[in-house]
Amino acid sequence: MADQQTSAQSFEDGRATFSRMYDYLLGGVHNFAADREAARQLLRAFPDAADTARSNRLFLARAVRTLAEAGIRQFLDLGSGIPTQGNVHEIAQAIDPTIRVLYVDIDPVAVVASNHILTGNPTCRAVEADFTRPQLLLDALTSGDLATVIDLGQPTALLYCSVLQLVPPDLIDGVVAPIRDRLVPGSALTISHPGTAVTDGYDESSVSSVAEVYRTTAAADIVLRSDAQLAALFGGFGLIEPGLVSLNQWRPELGEPDPYAAKSMLSPMRGGVAVLHA
Ligand SMILES: C[S@@+](CC[C@H](N)C(=O)[O-])C[C@H]1O[C@@H](n2cnc3c(N)ncnc32)[C@H](O)[C@@H]1O
Repeated sequence: MADQQTSAQSFEDGRATFSRMYDYLLGGVHNFAADREAARQLLRAFPDAADTARSNRLFLARAVRTLAEAGIRQFLDLGSGIPTQGNVHEIAQAIDPTIRVLYVDIDPVAVVASNHILTGNPTCRAVEADFTRPQLLLDALTSGDLATVIDLGQPTALLYCSVLQLVPPDLIDGVVAPIRDRLVPGSALTISHPGTAVTDGYDESSVSSVAEVYRTTAAADIVLRSDAQLAALFGGFGLIEPGLVSLNQWRPELGEPDPYAAKSMLSPMRGGVAVLHA
């Protein structure tokens, strides 16, 4: 469906990937020596990296729970990552076992691991694809067998959690808008993303060291975005309470304690959930 050269190359040449570094930070087992070394470099530059990853996972869980409880019955998770604890289908299907989830990731390790844990779960799938090529994804969703998982004629929860920071400013609208604007009323959009206000809690040199580690180890360029830039990504969708906030401030009562609850600073990741009204 998509050009997977980037992920395939990094798998073969022993380079770290964003997904497997994240897996290591979350205590997962689907990572290789290059990922672990890169993640250790990241932790030296930014000791809160594991807490930030965990905080992101907990936000994702609270958002999914909120949307499943609100009645959404299908979830499209773009840049879904390697499965760990509290995966989207587990949270959603605890509310309604018939909920359908399509996981999409560019990293074959993430896709294989996801399909492994989805064995025997007929309403969920994982596919390898590049979400920066939304038309290919839309074609597959409308004309291929993925239409049995996600019916774009029904309200859909679209998830972009900790992924859009990999998309450069000149491409971001063309990546998000085609899928977002194809969703029908009753749909929802969830985004989590490192914010520019990150320097309120961390000094600028640690922020640039983090960017340097991702660039040199995983060939990933990280873009921070302001609240105004993130709000624009929601298009015509309306943010639900509490709006666009640091992740640990988003409905903390709905889940396990966020690691930032015990710190004197807010999570450097911002996030929100928005819905499309009729
Ligand atoms: C930090 S992980 C986030 C995982 C999950 N969304 C979460 O919030 O826990 C980012 C994921 O995005 C995936 N990714 C990066 N670029 C992608 C692309 N162009 N298309 C699909 N997936 C991509 C990576 O492989 C990785 O698994």
